[in-house]
Amino acid sequence: MDKICIAMAKGRLAKEAVKLFRSADINLFEDMLKSRKLIFHLPDENLEIILVKPADVPIYVEYGTADLGIVGKDTLLEENRDLYEVLDLKFGRCRFSLAGLPNRKKTLLQRKVATKYPNFTRRFFRSKGEPVEIIKLNGSIELAPLTGLADTILDIVQTGRTLKENGLIVYEDIRKLSARLVVNKVSMKTSQKSITRIIEALEDQI
Ligand code: PRP
Repeated sequence: MDKICIAMAKGRLAKEAVKLFRSADINLFEDMLKSRKLIFHLPDENLEIILVKPADVPIYVEYGTADLGIVGKDTLLEENRDLYEVLDLKFGRCRFSLAGLPNRKKTLLQRKVATKYPNFTRRFFRSKGEPVEIIKLNGSIELAPLTGLADTILDIVQTGRTLKENGLIVYEDIRKLSARLVVNKVSMKTSQKSITRIIEALEDQI
């Protein structure tokens, strides 16, 4: 069996991902996420796990540095990389929504949309034929309508708490999102046996 490298998105998906692997009898260290280490070797499993920023998971997988990746569909839609998306892992469920203040002026000539997802946002509004100005932010997106930086945000909504606590409302839900398992296109051929074994073990637990 070939050694397989898995790129795992740090942050809110990582805990669920470790849980899923462990339930599939692939024994990732339980306290992996408590340490500051970024690379973990599991010789008994013939695995190597690297912990990377969510937006970097598709990059590691496209280049083949990692054979597999676990990452949110939001990131995949934004990064649009050349890889195989093989499994919906059904955790990290949330949605892409447009949101803003309850009293948004309908007479705006052009919306200003703040988002962490400028590529997806551009495609979305282009497909609707609506011209918008996109402002890329790196976090705390809900601040944009509160401060007047933008009138609309395109962001992920999970519980809706951040919107509610900042007095914002959803204008439109765009699409559902969840964590996905992705595979490098070459690894899928060269390490097919090892990768299929992992996919099947995880699939049984979903
Ligand atoms: C995300 C997202 C929203 C919030 C939604 O931010 O950008 O702000 O979570 O979750 P909720 O609907 O459960 O409140 P994140 O926590 O990743 O932090 P960020 O503001 O730094 O992007």
